[in-house]
Amino acid sequence: MALLLLRNLLHSFCNALRPLSQTPQTGPSAADMAVFLLLCVFFAVGLALLALQLKLRMSVHGPQEPPRLPSLPLIGSLLSLRSPHPPHLLFKELQRKYGQTYSLMMGSHCVIIVNHHTHAKEVLMKKGKIFAGRPRTVTTDVLTRDGKDIAFGDYSTTWRFHRKIVHGALCMFGEGSAAIEKIITAEAQSLCAILSEAAAARLALDLSPELTRAVTNVICALCFNSSYRRGDPEFEAMLSYSQGIVDTVAKDSLVDIFPWLQIFPNADLHLLKKCVAIRDQLLQKQYDKHKVDYSDSVQRDLMDALLRAKRSAENNNTVELGADSVGLSDDHLLMTVGDIFGAGVETTSTVLKWAITYLIHHPQVQRHIQEELDSKVGGDRSPQLSDRGSLPYLEATIREVLRIRPVAPLLIPHMALSDSSIGDFTVRKGTRVIINLWSLHHDEKEWKNPELFDPGRFLNSEGTGLIIPSASYLPFGAGVRVCLGEALAKMELFLFLSCILQRFTLSVPSGQPLPSLEGKFGVVLQPAKYNVNATPRPGWERIKCQPC
Ligand code: HEM
Repeated sequence: MALLLLRNLLHSFCNALRPLSQTPQTGPSAADMAVFLLLCVFFAVGLALLALQLKLRMSVHGPQEPPRLPSLPLIGSLLSLRSPHPPHLLFKELQRKYGQTYSLMMGSHCVIIVNHHTHAKEVLMKKGKIFAGRPRTVTTDVLTRDGKDIAFGDYSTTWRFHRKIVHGALCMFGEGSAAIEKIITAEAQSLCAILSEAAAARLALDLSPELTRAVTNVICALCFNSSYRRGDPEFEAMLSYSQGIVDTVAKDSLVDIFPWLQIFPNADLHLLKKCVAIRDQLLQKQYDKHKVDYSDSVQRDLMDALLRAKRSAENNNTVELGADSVGLSDDHLLMTVGDIFGAGVETTSTVLKWAITYLIHHPQVQRHIQEELDSKVGGDRSPQLSDRGSLPYLEATIREVLRIRPVAPLLIPHMALSDSSIGDFTVRKGTRVIINLWSLHHDEKEWKNPELFDPGRFLNSEGTGLIIPSASYLPFGAGVRVCLGEALAKMELFLFLSCILQRFTLSVPSGQPLPSLEGKFGVVLQPAKYNVNATPRPGWERIKCQPC
């Protein structure tokens, strides 16, 4: 079409140039054709040269900046981010206009939003060390004494050292250890006892504090070798401070975008400081107790493991650097333990809450899991970790819950530690990078009906084996900053859910609406509160507290 147009234009041009005396011809002459062909060649060569020049310019100036949302001095892209939706939904929506990877300004900070798994994996895995930084914000600094923890601490020698110790301690007490299975099982048992009592009294229960207590006790056993009983005032204090932290920290609140706002009274910041003070008191109490009881010959928990690392660094008996240079101050020790608490409790208990919420919405999935439990485990004994391989439908359900409602839908923000690139886009040092896990897990090209809760998508066609049907699935992140508690969390999810579903069928009291699937956005995405009826399954009615 374009060539035809060009040809007609040239033809008129040639006719115009022809001497007036010449009689016009009806069709193009041989000379016309030759001129036309010559110009076509010029045109093609011109295009090729232009392409070459563009390519050369790209290699000189490097790749391009990602598309950017409109931004104004001082306030950045704030006006384009006004939305009734939480950030993960808004960021997914903005892809339509700006593409899968785009940037925006949060005040004076450049933030790149990644919505596709290829770029997400480039950031987390291929260039994991370059993007392993964490931006500092006012609220996370309050929470972590200026980043002296693992989750919000910047990538450094101290951070690597702490992560190594915690990983070692979690391996010793957690992954693959019979001790942790026993601890989780005991907590699942006491949770089932509470459900039995409520069922006997015909009471519907808000499971949220019960699940949180059970998961808190697992982490308490790991960190402090201790646990809380129901109604323990210290546990009640912990519950309320945890909620205060979830509600106020790392939500891209205005004070995190414009730190100078700290000078004005700020209710959220005030609440956060109050909650952090209560948490610090509890941590300090455990720390002091551990320092008194400490012995080099026994390592009871994570606190002991950290104390041992600190002492050996102080005595210079370590191959690592000295205590000061690796940052084993009291603050670091306390913040590291606090972090495991923060990261280990809210996440796992929230996934359990989402699992129960979806099971209530999908009673056929609940029945399927119970049939699987009945046929593979039976009613004479309780599920164990060794049953995981023979309960694929339950495992697939856990995977589907982690997909459809990722607890950390934006992970934790990453930061470029040097100039780099994501795909064809340049990234400057200091740029913040947000991986929108929500977009990855709800990508219509990767997941059929992504909003549909369908555990079957994680099973092979025979329904007997587990699969990961898409590369767009990263519930625990990946690479250098991958979740430290992934193995522990998976054990907890399996043991708690299998134990509950072996004995009870969960539903909402008759006449009550089904619980909302929307979720409240904070440092984790939490389901709303609602009451649950736990009806004992046939054969379990009279058993009040049978060990799991
Ligand atoms: C189902 C439960 C859990 C989920 C879905 C989950 C998910 C995640 C995600 C998505 C991240 C962020 C990765 C990133 O920023 O790239 C993370 C980080 C982290 N998680 Fe988990 N997590 C869970 C349970 C746990 C538990 C039980 C612990 C501790 C025992 C834990 C400890 C951590 C820590 C310390 C980090 C920070 C890692 C770092 O910055 O280097 N998590 N988790």
